[in-house]
Amino acid sequence: MFGLKTTLKAIFTGAVLLASVSAQEAASVLPDVAISAEFPNAIPGFTPDLISGEPNNLKVTFRNTGKTDLKVNLIVGSVAEIGDFNNVIRNLTAYRYGTTLKADATLILPYTIKMEHASREVGLTLMADILDSSKNHFPVVVYNSTVNFTEPIQSWIDLQLIFLYVLIAGIFVAIGMFVKDAMAPEVKKTVKKSPALTAEERKTAEENMNVLDESWIPENHKPKSPKVTRRRA
Ligand SMILES: *[C@@H]1O[C@H](CO)[C@@H](O)[C@H](O)[C@H]1NC(C)=O
Ligand SMILES: *[C@@H]1O[C@H](CO)[C@@H](O)[C@H](O)[C@H]1NC(C)=O
Ligand SMILES: *[C@@H]1O[C@H](CO)[C@@H](O)[C@H](O)[C@H]1NC(C)=O
Repeated sequence: MFGLKTTLKAIFTGAVLLASVSAQEAASVLPDVAISAEFPNAIPGFTPDLISGEPNNLKVTFRNTGKTDLKVNLIVGSVAEIGDFNNVIRNLTAYRYGTTLKADATLILPYTIKMEHASREVGLTLMADILDSSKNHFPVVVYNSTVNFTEPIQSWIDLQLIFLYVLIAGIFVAIGMFVKDAMAPEVKKTVKKSPALTAEERKTAEENMNVLDESWIPENHKPKSPKVTRRRA
């Protein structure tokens, strides 16, 4: 409930902010801030991709080259038709930060875009609301250009799953081999213990063993201890 209310309030504030971009220009001296947005997996010189329906985590870098501290209040965004940025397809979630941007310092803030859209190019506008020490609002452009919506690559997810299965199978094989190795010395120890029996006891034990019908036991599983004890006697 609280989250939704905050989000709605932020969207409303953001909408007002976007609407007031041109109106507010030249109200006071614009702060000396250089802003850039970094898209995940972006290739310089190419239109950045946004994966439809998945969270796209952008990094927004603010560089304050001025002499006074500022505050980054929020970042808002909208997706619009490429030919007409006034034709808004969707108003994006507004994120509130309230983070101080110190004089002569750099601040990196995350901004996530998650939206379903058919694979094609659209216009993306990201605006930040910056406050100066006198609480004046400055809407500044973070990004205002083309992005390319793409479908998530399903087969890559499948490949990752297959890799995971192979990995798990490998772990089980390794555990099996380890257990086999760990058991082997135990068997030898038992065999070594047998000379502790007296001659009488051993004879009884051997007789008892011979009584067992061993024909059903696979060759390599048949008990070998009688032979061992006889050799040692
Ligand atoms: C986006 O916000 C603006 C400003 O409040 C509003 O006029 C517009 O209808 C909204 N667009 C959509 C697609 O929600
Ligand atoms: C963003 O770019 C579009 C198209 O180039 C332009 O019409 C619009 O005024 C720009 N918006 C801002 C806030 O700079
Ligand atoms: C946009 O992405 C699609 C594939 O999803 C690709 O075919 C197309 O070339 C891309 N366009 C640009 C301008 O990068």
